[in-house]
Amino acid sequence: MPELKKSPAWQALNAHYERIYPVHMRDLFDQDPHRFEKFSLQINDILFDFSKNRITEESLTLLTHLADHSGLKDQIEAMFRGDPINTTENRPALHTALRGSRQNTPIYVNNQDINPEINRVLSRIEHFCDQIRSGKWRGYSGKKITHIVNIGIGGSDLGPKTVLTALQPYADENIKVHFVSNVDQASIIETISTLSPETTLFIIASKTFTTQETMTNAHSARQWVMNSAKNTHAISKHFVAISTNQPAVIDFGIASDNIFEFWDWVGGRYSLWSAIGLSIAISIGFKNFTQLLQGANDVDHHFKNAPFESNIPVVMALLGIWYNNFFNAASHAILPYAHSLRYFSDYLQQCDMESNGKSIDRNGLQVNYETGPIIWGQSGPNGQHAFFQLIHQGTKLVPCDFIAPAHNRYESPDQHAILLANFLAQPEALMQGQTIEQVKKELDQNQLPLSLLQSKIFSGNRPSNSFLFKEVNPKTIGSLIALYEHKIFVQGCIWNINSFDQMGVELGKKLARSIVPELQNSQPISSHNCSTNGLINHYKKIRSS
Ligand code: F6P
Repeated sequence: MPELKKSPAWQALNAHYERIYPVHMRDLFDQDPHRFEKFSLQINDILFDFSKNRITEESLTLLTHLADHSGLKDQIEAMFRGDPINTTENRPALHTALRGSRQNTPIYVNNQDINPEINRVLSRIEHFCDQIRSGKWRGYSGKKITHIVNIGIGGSDLGPKTVLTALQPYADENIKVHFVSNVDQASIIETISTLSPETTLFIIASKTFTTQETMTNAHSARQWVMNSAKNTHAISKHFVAISTNQPAVIDFGIASDNIFEFWDWVGGRYSLWSAIGLSIAISIGFKNFTQLLQGANDVDHHFKNAPFESNIPVVMALLGIWYNNFFNAASHAILPYAHSLRYFSDYLQQCDMESNGKSIDRNGLQVNYETGPIIWGQSGPNGQHAFFQLIHQGTKLVPCDFIAPAHNRYESPDQHAILLANFLAQPEALMQGQTIEQVKKELDQNQLPLSLLQSKIFSGNRPSNSFLFKEVNPKTIGSLIALYEHKIFVQGCIWNINSFDQMGVELGKKLARSIVPELQNSQPISSHNCSTNGLINHYKKIRSS
C-alpha cells in the first residue's frame, strides 16, 4: 500500500505530529490529573498503563483512523475466520484456534472444521503428560523419565523456553526440562553430560523436521541413546516428535505413535499453543497448560470485540506505529522486572522481527515507510546497569515496555520493594527527566562544579508503557503473549505486509548448506566472493595448524 502515506489518516497524523513534538509529557500530566485513568486499560489482572506516551486523546483518535483506513476490523475477522491471510504461502494463521478449540466454534480449513483435530491432539498431550508425570512411561531399562530435553530452534524453542522459565513455580520438581537449540555441539554436550540416557526423553520439536540445527542435534541425541541402549527399540521410549512433516519424522526413526501433529496453518513463532508446548504441559501439568491457553483465549475475545480505542493490542500497535513512523524510532525495548521473565524479550524479538521485518507489501510492492522495529531488551534491573544510559540521555528515541508482577516466587518484602521501586522509577525518570533548575539545585546542595550542569540534565519526554499484574501464572503469561501477538498482527495490517511468512531466513540457510561440504576438505576455495573465500581459506589454515 504505497498510498498509505498519502491517506488522509496518515496526513492527519503527520500534521498532528508537528503539534505534539514540542509538547512535554510533564506538562500533559500537570494539565490533567486524570491522565492515568484516561490512558490505562485492563484485561484479566493485567493493567496496561500507556499514559506516559507522547499522546493526547486526539492522537489516539487519529491513530485509530489509521487502523480504520487499513480495514483492520475486517482483517481481524479474516484471521479468526481462517481466511488464507498468509498470502505468500496461501494459508491461514490460526494460532487463535489452538486456544479456543474447546469452545468448539467451527473454523473451517479446506472445508473441514479444525476443532476436532486440535482437541484430539490436546487429548493425546494430556494422556502423554499423565504417563510421564505419573511414571507410567518408562525408559528402555525400566526407569522413570526424570529429564526432558526439547531439541528445537526459533519458534520450536523460544516459546516453550520462555513460558517454562516463567512458570517454574508450577513445574514438576521430579522432571527437569532442558532446551537445546544451538548447533554448536557445546549446547547438547553440556546438557546431556549431566543426564542419563535411561531416564531422559527427547522431544524433537520442528515444524518442518528439516531444520539443520535441530536435525543435527537430534541425530547426536539419538546416537547418545543408542550408545547406551544398543538397541533401536529404545528410540520409541526416549524420542517423541512434534511436527507437520510425518514422513520425515518416520524416516528419522520415530514411530507414528510418538508423533504429536500440528498443522501448516500454525506459524512457527506462534506455535507454543500447539503440541510445540508439550514440554510446558509435561512440566506444569495439562490443567495448567489449559490455563495458559485460556489466558490467550481471553485476549482473543478482547481483541476481536473491544473498540479500537480500548483494545489493548490495537493501542499497543498504534503507539508503536506512532513512534516508528512519525518519530522515527528504530527500536523498541522490552524490559521485564521479574527474573522469571528473563527470556521474554528474546521471545518477542523473534515473534515481532520475523513477522514484521519485511519491506515488500502484500501487493508485492516495495514499501515507502518504515515497518517492524528492532525489538530488544533484557531483564530490567540488569539493563539499568548496561544500556539505560542511552535510553535516558542518548540521541535515539527508544520506546520501552516495562513489565512487572506484584508478586514474585521468592520475595522478602524489602527485596521485592526494591525491584518494584525500580520498575516504577525508570518510566517516571524517562517521562519527567531532570530540568536545568533541578540540576542547579542538586549541584549547589552537593557542592559540585557548575561544569556538570549540561551532563546532568535529563530531557525526559521519553515514552514507555507499563504492564503490571498480580503474578506470573499460566493464565497471565498466556494473556501477555497473546497481547503482543495481536499487536504484531495489527502493525502488519497497517503496514500492509504479510506477518506470517519468513522468506528472509532462507538465503542464509541455502548458502550454509552449500558451504558445509566446502569446509570438509583442505582444498582452497574460490567459488565465493573474495571475502568469503578469504575467510574459508583462513579457517582451513588455522584448523589444520
Ligand atoms: O529459520 C526460521 C524458522 O523457520 C522459524 O520461523 C522457525 O520457528 C524456526 O526456523 C524453526 O523451524 P522448525 O520448527 O521447522 O524447525
